[in-house]
Amino acid sequence: MTYSRITGTGSYLPEKLLTNKDLEKIVDTTDTWIRERTGIKERHIAADTETTSDLAFHASRKAIEMAGISSSEIDMVILATTTADKIFPGTACLLQKQLDVHGCPAFDVQAVCTGFVYALSIADKFIRAGETRRVLVVGSETLSRILDWNDRSTCVLFGDGAGAVVLEADSEPGIMSTHLHADGSYEDLLHVPHGISIGYEQLKAGEAYVYMEGNAVFKMAVNKLGQLVDEALTANGISKSDIDWLVPHQANSRIIEATARKLRMSMERVIVTVAEHGNTSAASIPLALDIAVRDGRIKRGETLMLEAFGSGFTWGSVLLKF
Ligand code: UT7
Repeated sequence: MTYSRITGTGSYLPEKLLTNKDLEKIVDTTDTWIRERTGIKERHIAADTETTSDLAFHASRKAIEMAGISSSEIDMVILATTTADKIFPGTACLLQKQLDVHGCPAFDVQAVCTGFVYALSIADKFIRAGETRRVLVVGSETLSRILDWNDRSTCVLFGDGAGAVVLEADSEPGIMSTHLHADGSYEDLLHVPHGISIGYEQLKAGEAYVYMEGNAVFKMAVNKLGQLVDEALTANGISKSDIDWLVPHQANSRIIEATARKLRMSMERVIVTVAEHGNTSAASIPLALDIAVRDGRIKRGETLMLEAFGSGFTWGSVLLKF
């Protein structure tokens, strides 16, 4: 039996820092409001010349280095993003070019904040099916480009960044289960209402911005994130106490705390990094994972539950032995 296992993690945050105090000068907000309602202290913003594939490249190099392999050994590249470099080709191909990898499949996954969980699940299936052995799975975003910097209800929430993992074939798990969900009927609660085939004029005018009904999204997120844990535990016949670390999507520390409370999980077992980078959509889980691996909290052999909720709505989980 072939399983998939994470052998390397990496992440990257752009140099430019935007603190809550900086935002006080841009919109009618306060450091106190942002910290109390979201837990966010600062976020990183990509330089004008820096692209989603650039951020992905830095994170990928670190993951590849930790895995102890060379880029040429990668046999698939999956990149989750909502903020592609170009309309086409896919950002995964642009990353592949930067890594000097040639010939293997490379494609983007668009499931917004759940994108990395979707991408990891797809990579796991390819490895289990015996079609690939080493997949580079990345979440990378330049969300600052689609924020309305006059809208205090959204611009304070998001940031830019990237996270990556190398997933390799192994005789031991690794990934124990993945569960993916979506319900497109909630489209209007969290979206950018413009794109190629709807509102192209606004897109061209640089007016395609994130719109969110925060409260409704908040309630649904807490509900679905709780259900995801139960679903994974039942599927694997294990209990809450078997989970060493919850690595949730980093959107809002209150959502994370509410989910942990619902699961009666101590916050000491939950990875929370949202304070340092804000909501980085598809990048948030691999970013949080890499930070906690590198600071020594997450150790080999521990059981991790990754879970995400985002626009679509989409939601999903990955249960794994690290
Ligand atoms: O990643 C995908 C998933 N996304 C999420 O999970 C995000 C989910 N939602 C949230 O995190 C929260 O709903 C927010 C952080 C977006 C908002 O927090 P909230 O506690 O739900 O606040 P609210 O939207 O109910 O707004 C409360 C008040 C309003 O004022 P009034 O109407 O009560 O006078 C807002 O106008 O806070 C006001 N407000 C602000 N005040 C200062 C909204 N944004 C700001 C701001 N600074 N930046």
